[in-house]
Amino acid sequence: MKKRAPLRLLLVAGARPNFMKVAPLLRELRARPGLFEARLVHTGQHYDEAMSDIFFEELEIPKPDIHLGVGSGSHAVQTARIMEAFEKVLVADRPDWVVVVGDVNSTLACSVVAAKMSPPVRVAHVEAGLRSRDRSMPEEVNRVVTDALSDLLFTTSPDADVNLRHEGIERRRIHRVGNVMIDTLRRFLARADSSDVMRRLGIAAPFALLTLHRPSNVDDEAALRRIFTALETVAQDIPIVFPVHPRTVKMMRELGVGADGGSGSLRLIEPLGYLDFLHLQKRARLVLTDSGGIQEEASILGVPCLTLRENTERPITTTRGTNVLVGSDTRAIVTAARRILRARARRPRSIPLWDGRAAGRIAAVFARIARESS
Ligand code: UD1
Repeated sequence: MKKRAPLRLLLVAGARPNFMKVAPLLRELRARPGLFEARLVHTGQHYDEAMSDIFFEELEIPKPDIHLGVGSGSHAVQTARIMEAFEKVLVADRPDWVVVVGDVNSTLACSVVAAKMSPPVRVAHVEAGLRSRDRSMPEEVNRVVTDALSDLLFTTSPDADVNLRHEGIERRRIHRVGNVMIDTLRRFLARADSSDVMRRLGIAAPFALLTLHRPSNVDDEAALRRIFTALETVAQDIPIVFPVHPRTVKMMRELGVGADGGSGSLRLIEPLGYLDFLHLQKRARLVLTDSGGIQEEASILGVPCLTLRENTERPITTTRGTNVLVGSDTRAIVTAARRILRARARRPRSIPLWDGRAAGRIAAVFARIARESS
């Protein structure tokens, strides 16, 4: 019998929240070299040590096979640069599938290029179907376009399947597999437990943990001021630790918000690596965030999460997890935080299929495809 050639998959990662999603996928796919040839492209959307390199080290992600080194720019510039560079990669070396994760500009750019190759390269989207229904959010545009172009759509929750069906995507393309980000959380939690970040930074419990980087919060002066007013009040009840995203640092400087480095109990620190951040997240009395992934992680850890947004593309975290939407209204944030601080402690939640085995389910789908195509 003729030996079948492995299915050739090209995985794309670009920005911080992509790295914890490709890590388990690459591990699963590379564990079966007879079946798959999995390669990794790093677009370079995030590029510095704190936003990129440390994640490769800590999550044991092999060095990218291809680095596009695109860096920052406006949405159009960044997307265009990724497209130009990625097209050359696909022309030089046609994979059977391009696998994109999440909703960042790299996700969109590489899906468009693959779909417009002649003949097209098939696209698989991991974390498909999430919808905030807020088109002013760049990530929402990225999600909608990527899903429309994808041949295979891997979802984390039933709401995502419903969203995709409403957009006319055939049922056979949709596979509910669970959450690869939670694969990574479960795999690295024990290692995160032994991080010495609290001693190193002199952080004592109880504390709250904050992240903030959405353009709708940090590029809008009024919203940023409302949030900081709330944070200063909450910080009177509990110290807040704030690893600051580069986008946010830039805006805080430009607008002169929190420029004093925060009061003593609102503590600004550099972005953290994965293990240190997970260590703090698990021990936080409360998480305040506008991130997508942190709503999911906090839910699984059972840590109360206040999301500083009006909407979420991850509604299951509000129904099955610990997440509450509070927007950017000063009073709403303070009231919700105080309610949590008065309540009794946490309870870890479980969400169906968020069990650490999502990447294995994705590999199983590709294994079926590999067998059928041989
Ligand atoms: C991007 C993603 C967002 C994700 C976030 C996580 C899009 C549209 N947005 O937003 O979905 O939640 O990453 O971090 O893709 N910068 C650095 N060092 C870096 C990377 C960025 O200093 O390693 C600076 C850039 O120069 C830029 C700013 O941070 O000024 C924002 O970076 P950018 O890639 O535009 O988007 P994010 O806000 O990080």
